Amino acid sequence: MNEKFIVLAIDGGAASGKSTTAKTLTQAMSLMHVDTGSHYRALCLKLLEKKVSANDERLGKALGALTLDTEITGNQGRIRLDGKVPDPDELRSDLVNEKVSFFAAQPDVREKLLGYQQSLAEVAESAGFSGLVMEGRDIGSVIYPDAQVKVFLQADERERKKRREAEGQTDAISLRDKMDTTRKNAPLACPDGALVIDTGRHSIDQVVGMVLDLAEKARS
Ligand code: DC
Repeated sequence: MNEKFIVLAIDGGAASGKSTTAKTLTQAMSLMHVDTGSHYRALCLKLLEKKVSANDERLGKALGALTLDTEITGNQGRIRLDGKVPDPDELRSDLVNEKVSFFAAQPDVREKLLGYQQSLAEVAESAGFSGLVMEGRDIGSVIYPDAQVKVFLQADERERKKRREAEGQTDAISLRDKMDTTRKNAPLACPDGALVIDTGRHSIDQVVGMVLDLAEKARS
């Protein structure tokens, strides 16, 4: 990998501001943006369609039969399951919001995504981007522990609920965060070396400015 290529890991709970931050960063730098929450949502949707639940004994076999690759549209690297990009509205449905954390807690599901997610820096570099900005819950801790830039976003619950409501979504944010934080495998946690930013106390421009400062320092 080109030594100038940069990986930015953005972690945080539901509605903590990860997507807005990551998308805004792509306007300032030539980065491919990957939302790993959508990977878990895509697997959840697909498995529910196949009538396979999170604790189903057929889970491993159903996952094994799925092929994963990436479609790049603009700055977005989107997961394809069996050659198809899932419908973004379906990924954000109430049912997926309700079930996704159960699937994300399964070791087989995480194992299926680990190698795929770790391959995306190379995908981004081959596509000509100068870096990868990846958002999720375990990016700075498990997927890219050596990322040059690591940030952990947080905001109080009222603020996060307001954000989801503004998007017209029903999402049990605190329940999902509790499940994501207490699971055994790759729980949501602030990674070592990450800058913690409260997105309820700073404007998006300030948050992006702080991340860009870190990126500049990492590159110099
Ligand atoms: O960011 P999001 O709300 O779209 O994420 C959906 C779910 O996926 C979330 O409840 C936990 C899981 N997830 C995860 O376990 N690890 C990640 N890196 C990203 C998301």
